[in-house]
Amino acid sequence: MSDNNSLQRPPAEIRFADELARLRAADDGPRPPGWAMSLQAARRFIVGDPAADVTRKFVGDPSLVDRALVTLATSRGLMLVGEPGTAKSLLSELIAAAVSGESTLTIQGGAATTEDQIKYSWNYALLVSEGPSTRSLVPAPMLRGMAEGKLVRFEEITRCPLEVQDSLLSLLSERVLAIPELTGPDSMVFAKAGFNVIATANTRDRGVNEMSAALKRRFNFETVFPIPDFQTELSLVEQEASKLLAQSGVELPPRRDVLEVLVRTFRDLRDNNGSDHMSTVMSTAEAVSVAHAVGLRGWFLRGEEGNPADVVECLAGTAAKDNADDLARLRRYLEQQAVRRNGEQWQALHQARHLLPG
Ligand SMILES: Nc1ncnc2c1ncn2[C@@H]1O[C@H](COP(=O)(O)OP(=O)(O)O)[C@@H](O)[C@H]1O
Ligand SMILES: [Mg+2]
Repeated sequence: MSDNNSLQRPPAEIRFADELARLRAADDGPRPPGWAMSLQAARRFIVGDPAADVTRKFVGDPSLVDRALVTLATSRGLMLVGEPGTAKSLLSELIAAAVSGESTLTIQGGAATTEDQIKYSWNYALLVSEGPSTRSLVPAPMLRGMAEGKLVRFEEITRCPLEVQDSLLSLLSERVLAIPELTGPDSMVFAKAGFNVIATANTRDRGVNEMSAALKRRFNFETVFPIPDFQTELSLVEQEASKLLAQSGVELPPRRDVLEVLVRTFRDLRDNNGSDHMSTVMSTAEAVSVAHAVGLRGWFLRGEEGNPADVVECLAGTAAKDNADDLARLRRYLEQQAVRRNGEQWQALHQARHLLPG
């Protein structure tokens, strides 16, 4: 980690190291045991505090952030559920960076996730030569979080096989991780204050419903919703896209009126207007990545800012993916809705509809 400027996306504790240091230095609020800062300071880190020159990072209900932090100070885990692209992962990263100073104790859930990736595994060369010992033990995030008193992030937990999910049960209720291969005091790792789990789950994945009742009981659930207000979403997309474009070496970002058209299109297609809603999730996160791609096209292909024709080109690949019905919906939108809107960017979007494949 010698040169953070060349990393594509350093973790939050590095991206915002300066803000975290200032918040910690000025923090005189009460701290739950094992926490790197008070709840108030953590909240300001996440939702922003212009007076202290702390940026807003998560756009959403501050009371959701408060409830999330309070939950983590209890002995229950926090489960963030919602549509993809609503910033569940971002929120869990920011919380872990604030509360534990580290957001990288992360398990990525998937069909192939095993207990080894959650608890611990072995260095086989050392295991063969010395047998099981603390030297041959390779800790995974859960073991480290318990031993060091830190938050552990479990991303997309519902994508794991149920028996793997349930291996968390005893860790969360007994707060101890047994390592039966070791003997003596090393065979039990007791959780230090500050340990807890933030899990995320997408409502579009195999459901939270299938999660065992026993495991559900060990979490408080919070739903993260898409950003309700147009202007707020537009500013966020503009801000995030311009950061990404600057990193990509783009000198002319798309104009605001082009981004307005882009964000409005996403919101229209997201809204469930009868049978004509997209099967792809038209999330804010997708809007940011389309805005980024639009800027890249304009700059690297023509040396200018991205325009509505770039928006259409990018939508075909991201919004419609390989789904023919979505492509047809997008085409209908450009033909029938875009044409009715006022303004040159909307007309340009409508004109560019023939750029859609097929
Ligand atoms: N409410 C929000 N606040 C801040 N950023 C958001 C918000 N909603 C979406 N984003 C954007 O989406 C990205 C986060 O997506 P991510 O955390 O991966 O979503 P999820 O885990 O819910 O699928 C952020 O980096 C940001 O650019
Ligand atoms: Mg996520």
